[in-house]
Amino acid sequence: MNDLFSPFTLRGVTLKNRIGVSPMCMYSCRDDGVPTDWHMQHLVSRSVGGAGLVITEASAVVPEGRITPADVGIWNDAQMEAHARIVAAVHATGSVAGIQIAHAGRKASRAAPWVHGPAVPSWTCMAPSAEAFEGFAVPHAMTEAEIAATIAAFVAAAKRSVQAGYRFIEIHGAHGYLAHQFCSPISNRRNDAWGGDFEGRTRFVREVATAVRAAIPEDVVLALRISHTDWVEGGWTTEESVELARRVKALGVDVIDVSSGGLDAGQKILLGPGYQVPGAAAVRQGADIPVAAVGLITEPAQAQAILTEGKADLILLARVLLREPYWPLRAAVELGRTPTLAIPPQYERGWNTLAKLEMDRTVAVPMQAL
Ligand SMILES: Cc1cc2nc3c(=O)[nH]c(=O)nc-3n(C[C@H](O)[C@H](O)[C@H](O)COP(=O)(O)O)c2cc1C
Repeated sequence: MNDLFSPFTLRGVTLKNRIGVSPMCMYSCRDDGVPTDWHMQHLVSRSVGGAGLVITEASAVVPEGRITPADVGIWNDAQMEAHARIVAAVHATGSVAGIQIAHAGRKASRAAPWVHGPAVPSWTCMAPSAEAFEGFAVPHAMTEAEIAATIAAFVAAAKRSVQAGYRFIEIHGAHGYLAHQFCSPISNRRNDAWGGDFEGRTRFVREVATAVRAAIPEDVVLALRISHTDWVEGGWTTEESVELARRVKALGVDVIDVSSGGLDAGQKILLGPGYQVPGAAAVRQGADIPVAAVGLITEPAQAQAILTEGKADLILLARVLLREPYWPLRAAVELGRTPTLAIPPQYERGWNTLAKLEMDRTVAVPMQAL
């Protein structure tokens, strides 16, 4: 049985527990893609909060691949140096720093969610086919040369990520962004070698995975986030996700991070606690590869049950950690584990006392321990 607080090793990387911070865009750069103090506090608060893995938000591999002009980038050295400072701070708390490398394709070039008003596109988007996402401009269909250049940009981004010190690199293949746009028959209408059947539609993500794996050290973890289903009739399916996971495992991908949706405005998501966990379990079982589960996992017992039932190897949390950055420590206390499994030594005294009180409220805690 995998305990939420048991270590998890992939290649040369050991996470101190099975809890990860899911990538979350902060839309907080100054139009240059350089991570700021906001990103530093956002990521380090959550590593201090006890998560074994902290994944930096979708970081664009080229400027046109950003969702908004305020996105983080990883296409130049100034960005890399700012990432490196965050990585060092995360590692100093005992967590492992990861990064998601991304290209938004036809869903690029919009404003941050809290910037209201008309969506004024900042640049022309490209995608596998000239098929717009609802409400967005029609993208231009990528040429062979643009596909090759984009794969090369993922490789350069992965190398810079390694240079910054990241030990876990996740390719963003979910949520209707570029790699997912290639995989889904809804957004990929090509009839060349980059579209058509499963083989053609998954070629882009497989080539990115192969090229990135070849460019990073053996001991660095390579992850792929997928949307296991489009939640649309005639779209990308869980069965295809299982097959893709089998294929990329053979290419050196170590873990699949299983999300869903985001490709088509007609999606009908069956929302509820742990709603994407069945997808994670299907990929884990069908492809025999470690998986991360994510999506409305909010309670410690719920997270533990997912691991106990063999549905996932790692639990990623997003929104609950915005409310509660110290969730892993609460989980340790609630599940009766020693909170010091998650806590940096500087903060041990605060949580040791709480754990004692929680575990046996009848025990009189001596004054000197408080
Ligand atoms: C503010 C915010 C930003 C997000 N940004 C990203 C992102 O950069 N990359 C990504 O793959 N998912 C992103 N997501 C999705 C989360 O990683 C996660 O998959 C989703 O919120 C479901 O998990 P939850 O129910 O624990 O929030 C974002 C979610 C939120 C709330």
